[in-house]
Amino acid sequence: MNLTRELILTEPKANNHFSKIASNYKELRTTDVDHIKHIKNLLDGESKINIADIGCGDGRYSLEILKSFKNCYLHCIDYNENMIKYLERYLTENKFTNFCARSGDANKLPLENDSMDCVMTFNAIHHFDLEKFFSEVYGSLKDDGHLFIYTRLRNQNYRSVWGEYFPLFADMENRLYELNELEEYVENAEMNIKSLRVFGHSRTSTLDRLVHQAKNNHYSTFALYDEKTFDESLDIFQKNIQKNFNDLEQITWHDENILLEIEKY
Ligand SMILES: C[S@@+](CC[C@H](N)C(=O)[O-])C[C@H]1O[C@@H](n2cnc3c(N)ncnc32)[C@H](O)[C@@H]1O
Repeated sequence: MNLTRELILTEPKANNHFSKIASNYKELRTTDVDHIKHIKNLLDGESKINIADIGCGDGRYSLEILKSFKNCYLHCIDYNENMIKYLERYLTENKFTNFCARSGDANKLPLENDSMDCVMTFNAIHHFDLEKFFSEVYGSLKDDGHLFIYTRLRNQNYRSVWGEYFPLFADMENRLYELNELEEYVENAEMNIKSLRVFGHSRTSTLDRLVHQAKNNHYSTFALYDEKTFDESLDIFQKNIQKNFNDLEQITWHDENILLEIEKY
Protein backbone atom coordinates (compact mmCIF):
# COMPACT_ATOMS: atom_id res chain seq x y z
CA MET A 1 0.00 0.00 0.00
CA ASN A 2 1.37 3.43 -0.91
CA LEU A 3 1.81 5.45 2.26
CA THR A 4 3.93 8.19 0.76
CA ARG A 5 1.00 10.01 -0.84
CA GLU A 6 0.10 13.57 0.07
CA LEU A 7 -1.77 13.42 3.38
CA ILE A 8 -2.93 17.01 3.47
CA LEU A 9 -6.20 17.71 1.70
CA THR A 10 -5.56 21.13 0.19
CA GLU A 11 -8.35 23.68 0.32
CA PRO A 12 -9.30 23.57 -3.40
CA LYS A 13 -9.35 19.76 -3.27
CA ALA A 14 -11.47 19.82 -0.10
CA ASN A 15 -13.84 22.31 -1.69
CA ASN A 16 -14.12 20.10 -4.75
CA HIS A 17 -14.94 17.16 -2.47
CA PHE A 18 -17.74 19.10 -0.73
CA SER A 19 -19.12 20.29 -4.10
CA LYS A 20 -19.38 16.70 -5.28
CA ILE A 21 -21.16 15.39 -2.20
CA ALA A 22 -23.40 18.41 -1.50
CA SER A 23 -26.44 16.93 -3.26
CA ASN A 24 -26.61 13.80 -1.10
CA TYR A 25 -24.71 14.90 2.01
CA LYS A 26 -27.72 14.50 4.32
CA GLU A 27 -28.37 10.97 3.08
CA LEU A 28 -24.74 9.96 3.68
CA ARG A 29 -24.24 11.38 7.17
CA THR A 30 -25.91 10.53 10.49
CA THR A 31 -27.56 13.58 12.04
CA ASP A 32 -27.44 13.62 15.85
CA VAL A 33 -29.37 16.34 17.62
CA ASP A 34 -28.49 15.82 21.28
CA HIS A 35 -25.78 18.51 21.20
CA ILE A 36 -28.29 21.04 19.84
CA LYS A 37 -30.71 20.19 22.65
CA HIS A 38 -27.85 20.62 25.12
CA ILE A 39 -26.98 24.05 23.68
CA LYS A 40 -30.64 25.02 23.91
CA ASN A 41 -30.61 24.12 27.61
CA LEU A 42 -27.49 26.20 28.18
CA LEU A 43 -28.92 29.26 26.44
CA ASP A 44 -32.34 30.79 26.62
CA GLY A 45 -34.19 29.18 23.71
CA GLU A 46 -36.79 31.96 23.64
CA SER A 47 -34.67 35.09 23.36
CA LYS A 48 -34.06 37.07 20.18
CA ILE A 49 -30.49 36.24 19.38
CA ASN A 50 -28.17 36.38 16.41
CA ILE A 51 -26.57 33.01 15.72
CA ALA A 52 -23.96 32.12 13.10
CA ASP A 53 -23.49 28.56 11.84
CA ILE A 54 -19.99 28.43 10.33
CA GLY A 55 -19.14 25.62 7.90
CA CYS A 56 -22.90 24.98 7.85
CA GLY A 57 -22.76 22.57 4.90
CA ASP A 58 -26.14 21.68 3.43
CA GLY A 59 -27.99 22.95 6.51
CA ARG A 60 -28.92 19.71 8.26
CA TYR A 61 -27.92 21.30 11.60
CA SER A 62 -28.94 24.83 10.63
CA LEU A 63 -32.49 23.45 10.44
CA GLU A 64 -32.18 22.00 13.95
CA ILE A 65 -30.89 25.36 15.24
CA LEU A 66 -33.87 27.15 13.70
CA LYS A 67 -36.26 24.62 15.24
CA SER A 68 -34.67 25.02 18.68
CA PHE A 69 -34.24 28.81 18.72
CA LYS A 70 -37.58 30.04 17.44
CA ASN A 71 -36.76 33.74 17.79
CA CYS A 72 -33.23 33.71 16.46
CA TYR A 73 -31.82 35.12 13.27
CA LEU A 74 -29.40 32.62 11.77
CA HIS A 75 -26.40 33.49 9.58
CA CYS A 76 -25.32 30.41 7.63
CA ILE A 77 -21.79 30.58 6.23
CA ASP A 78 -19.90 28.02 4.21
CA TYR A 79 -17.25 28.55 1.57
CA ASN A 80 -18.81 25.94 -0.69
CA GLU A 81 -21.44 27.50 -2.94
CA ASN A 82 -23.07 24.16 -3.74
CA MET A 83 -23.65 23.49 -0.05
CA ILE A 84 -25.15 26.97 0.33
CA LYS A 85 -27.49 26.33 -2.59
CA TYR A 86 -28.80 23.10 -1.01
CA LEU A 87 -29.05 24.76 2.40
CA GLU A 88 -31.20 27.60 1.06
CA ARG A 89 -33.55 25.16 -0.61
CA TYR A 90 -33.74 22.93 2.47
CA LEU A 91 -34.47 25.69 4.99
CA THR A 92 -36.97 27.33 2.66
CA GLU A 93 -38.76 24.02 2.04
CA ASN A 94 -39.04 23.75 5.81
CA LYS A 95 -40.74 27.17 5.83
CA PHE A 96 -38.01 29.12 7.62
CA THR A 97 -37.30 32.70 6.60
CA ASN A 98 -35.34 33.99 9.61
CA PHE A 99 -31.96 33.16 8.13
CA CYS A 100 -29.47 34.34 5.54
CA ALA A 101 -26.98 32.12 3.76
CA ARG A 102 -23.76 33.14 2.06
CA SER A 103 -20.56 31.63 0.87
CA GLY A 104 -17.76 32.91 3.07
CA ASP A 105 -14.55 31.84 4.72
CA ALA A 106 -14.34 30.80 8.37
CA ASN A 107 -10.89 32.36 8.38
CA LYS A 108 -12.29 35.73 7.33
CA LEU A 109 -15.86 35.84 8.53
CA PRO A 110 -18.32 38.06 6.69
CA LEU A 111 -19.86 39.18 10.00
CA GLU A 112 -19.90 42.60 11.64
CA ASN A 113 -17.91 43.18 14.82
CA ASP A 114 -19.79 42.63 18.10
CA SER A 115 -22.86 41.40 16.23
CA MET A 116 -23.30 37.74 17.26
CA ASP A 117 -24.74 36.33 20.48
CA CYS A 118 -23.66 32.89 19.49
CA VAL A 119 -21.35 31.28 16.93
CA MET A 120 -21.69 27.55 16.31
CA THR A 121 -19.61 25.23 14.21
CA PHE A 122 -20.29 21.53 13.81
CA ASN A 123 -17.96 18.93 12.30
CA ALA A 124 -15.96 21.58 10.49
CA ILE A 125 -13.08 23.07 12.53
CA HIS A 126 -10.55 20.62 11.13
CA HIS A 127 -11.00 22.41 7.80
CA PHE A 128 -10.29 25.87 9.23
CA ASP A 129 -7.15 27.81 10.08
CA LEU A 130 -7.98 27.74 13.79
CA GLU A 131 -5.91 30.73 14.84
CA LYS A 132 -7.61 32.93 12.25
CA PHE A 133 -11.01 31.41 12.99
CA PHE A 134 -10.76 32.17 16.72
CA SER A 135 -9.61 35.69 16.03
CA GLU A 136 -12.54 36.25 13.65
CA VAL A 137 -15.03 34.75 16.11
CA TYR A 138 -13.62 36.91 18.91
CA GLY A 139 -14.29 40.01 16.81
CA SER A 140 -17.81 39.04 15.73
CA LEU A 141 -19.06 37.90 19.17
CA LYS A 142 -20.69 40.33 21.59
CA ASP A 143 -18.88 40.57 24.94
CA ASP A 144 -21.13 37.98 26.59
CA GLY A 145 -21.37 35.85 23.45
CA HIS A 146 -20.71 32.13 23.16
CA LEU A 147 -18.85 29.95 20.71
CA PHE A 148 -19.92 26.30 20.45
CA ILE A 149 -17.57 23.84 18.76
CA TYR A 150 -18.81 20.33 18.06
CA THR A 151 -16.23 17.97 16.63
CA ARG A 152 -14.67 14.56 16.96
CA LEU A 153 -11.24 14.45 18.51
CA ARG A 154 -8.39 12.50 16.94
CA ASN A 155 -8.62 9.77 19.61
CA GLN A 156 -12.41 9.55 19.12
CA ASN A 157 -11.85 9.07 15.41
CA TYR A 158 -9.47 6.16 16.10
CA ARG A 159 -12.24 4.41 18.06
CA SER A 160 -14.93 4.75 15.37
CA VAL A 161 -15.85 1.84 13.10
CA TRP A 162 -13.69 3.46 10.42
CA GLY A 163 -10.74 4.06 12.71
CA GLU A 164 -10.89 0.47 13.98
CA TYR A 165 -11.43 -1.43 10.75
CA PHE A 166 -10.68 0.75 7.69
CA PRO A 167 -6.94 0.67 6.94
CA LEU A 168 -5.14 4.02 7.32
CA PHE A 169 -8.36 5.92 8.04
CA ALA A 170 -7.44 7.43 11.40
CA ASP A 171 -3.77 7.94 10.50
CA MET A 172 -4.72 9.77 7.33
CA GLU A 173 -7.15 12.05 9.15
CA ASN A 174 -4.41 14.17 10.68
CA ARG A 175 -6.48 17.38 10.51
CA LEU A 176 -8.50 16.57 13.65
CA TYR A 177 -7.42 17.90 17.06
CA GLU A 178 -6.93 16.54 20.56
CA LEU A 179 -8.53 18.40 23.47
CA ASN A 180 -5.24 19.82 24.78
CA GLU A 181 -4.55 21.34 21.34
CA LEU A 182 -7.97 22.97 21.27
CA GLU A 183 -7.44 24.27 24.81
CA GLU A 184 -4.25 25.96 23.67
CA TYR A 185 -5.97 27.68 20.73
CA VAL A 186 -8.74 28.88 23.05
CA GLU A 187 -6.26 30.27 25.56
CA ASN A 188 -4.22 32.00 22.85
CA ALA A 189 -7.42 33.61 21.58
CA GLU A 190 -8.01 35.05 25.07
CA MET A 191 -11.09 32.95 25.45
CA ASN A 192 -12.15 30.43 28.03
CA ILE A 193 -13.73 26.97 27.92
CA LYS A 194 -16.85 27.33 30.07
CA SER A 195 -18.04 23.76 29.70
CA LEU A 196 -17.35 20.66 27.73
CA ARG A 197 -19.36 17.56 27.18
CA VAL A 198 -18.75 14.28 25.39
CA PHE A 199 -21.67 12.79 23.47
CA GLY A 200 -21.73 9.05 22.88
CA HIS A 201 -23.81 7.50 20.12
CA SER A 202 -24.57 3.81 19.78
CA ARG A 203 -24.61 2.99 16.09
CA THR A 204 -25.99 0.07 14.13
CA SER A 205 -25.57 -0.30 10.41
CA THR A 206 -25.29 -2.87 7.66
CA LEU A 207 -22.07 -3.67 5.85
CA ASP A 208 -23.72 -2.61 2.58
CA ARG A 209 -24.56 0.80 4.00
CA LEU A 210 -21.02 1.29 5.35
CA VAL A 211 -19.54 0.36 1.97
CA HIS A 212 -21.97 2.79 0.27
CA GLN A 213 -20.90 5.58 2.65
CA ALA A 214 -17.20 4.95 2.10
CA LYS A 215 -17.55 4.76 -1.69
CA ASN A 216 -19.43 8.05 -1.64
CA ASN A 217 -16.82 9.76 0.57
CA HIS A 218 -19.24 10.52 3.37
CA TYR A 219 -16.18 11.57 5.36
CA SER A 220 -13.78 13.81 3.45
CA THR A 221 -11.02 11.53 4.81
CA PHE A 222 -11.84 9.07 2.03
CA ALA A 223 -10.98 11.71 -0.56
CA LEU A 224 -7.41 11.58 0.80
CA TYR A 225 -6.89 8.06 -0.56
CA ASP A 226 -5.66 7.48 -4.09
CA GLU A 227 -7.92 5.12 -6.04
CA LYS A 228 -5.77 2.01 -5.68
CA THR A 229 -5.17 2.47 -1.95
CA PHE A 230 -8.87 3.15 -1.39
CA ASP A 231 -9.94 0.00 -3.26
CA GLU A 232 -7.45 -2.16 -1.36
CA SER A 233 -8.48 -0.60 1.95
CA LEU A 234 -12.18 -1.07 1.26
CA ASP A 235 -11.53 -4.71 0.52
CA ILE A 236 -9.63 -5.18 3.80
CA PHE A 237 -12.33 -3.23 5.66
CA GLN A 238 -15.00 -5.67 4.46
CA LYS A 239 -12.86 -8.64 5.49
CA ASN A 240 -12.22 -7.05 8.91
CA ILE A 241 -15.94 -6.53 9.43
CA GLN A 242 -16.77 -10.08 8.33
CA LYS A 243 -14.15 -11.38 10.78
CA ASN A 244 -15.42 -9.32 13.73
CA PHE A 245 -19.21 -9.39 13.29
CA ASN A 246 -21.48 -12.40 12.85
CA ASP A 247 -24.45 -10.50 11.48
CA LEU A 248 -23.54 -8.18 8.58
CA GLU A 249 -26.96 -6.56 8.87
CA GLN A 250 -26.21 -5.51 12.46
CA ILE A 251 -22.76 -3.95 12.69
CA THR A 252 -22.62 -2.11 16.00
CA TRP A 253 -20.14 0.39 17.39
CA HIS A 254 -19.95 3.49 19.54
CA ASP A 255 -19.21 6.97 18.15
CA GLU A 256 -18.11 9.90 20.29
CA ASN A 257 -18.01 13.65 19.75
CA ILE A 258 -17.17 16.56 21.99
CA LEU A 259 -18.95 19.89 22.46
CA LEU A 260 -17.00 22.89 23.77
CA GLU A 261 -18.77 25.96 25.11
CA ILE A 262 -16.35 28.87 24.84
CA GLU A 263 -16.66 32.47 26.03
CA LYS A 264 -14.52 35.60 26.02
CA TYR A 265 -12.52 36.24 29.22
C1 LIG B 1 -17.91 18.03 7.30
S1 LIG B 1 -18.82 19.38 6.64
C2 LIG B 1 -19.91 19.78 8.00
C3 LIG B 1 -21.13 20.50 7.57
C4 LIG B 1 -22.16 20.78 8.68
N1 LIG B 1 -21.66 21.62 9.72
C5 LIG B 1 -22.65 19.46 9.24
O1 LIG B 1 -22.24 19.07 10.35
O2 LIG B 1 -23.44 18.82 8.55
C6 LIG B 1 -17.64 20.70 6.69
C7 LIG B 1 -18.13 21.96 6.00
O3 LIG B 1 -17.17 23.00 6.23
C8 LIG B 1 -17.05 23.77 5.04
N2 LIG B 1 -15.76 24.47 5.10
C9 LIG B 1 -14.53 23.94 5.04
N3 LIG B 1 -13.60 24.91 5.15
C10 LIG B 1 -14.26 26.08 5.30
C11 LIG B 1 -13.85 27.43 5.47
N4 LIG B 1 -12.56 27.77 5.53
N5 LIG B 1 -14.80 28.36 5.60
C12 LIG B 1 -16.11 28.05 5.56
N6 LIG B 1 -16.56 26.78 5.40
C13 LIG B 1 -15.65 25.81 5.27
C14 LIG B 1 -17.16 22.73 3.93
O4 LIG B 1 -17.52 23.32 2.70
C15 LIG B 1 -18.23 21.80 4.47
O5 LIG B 1 -19.52 22.19 4.06
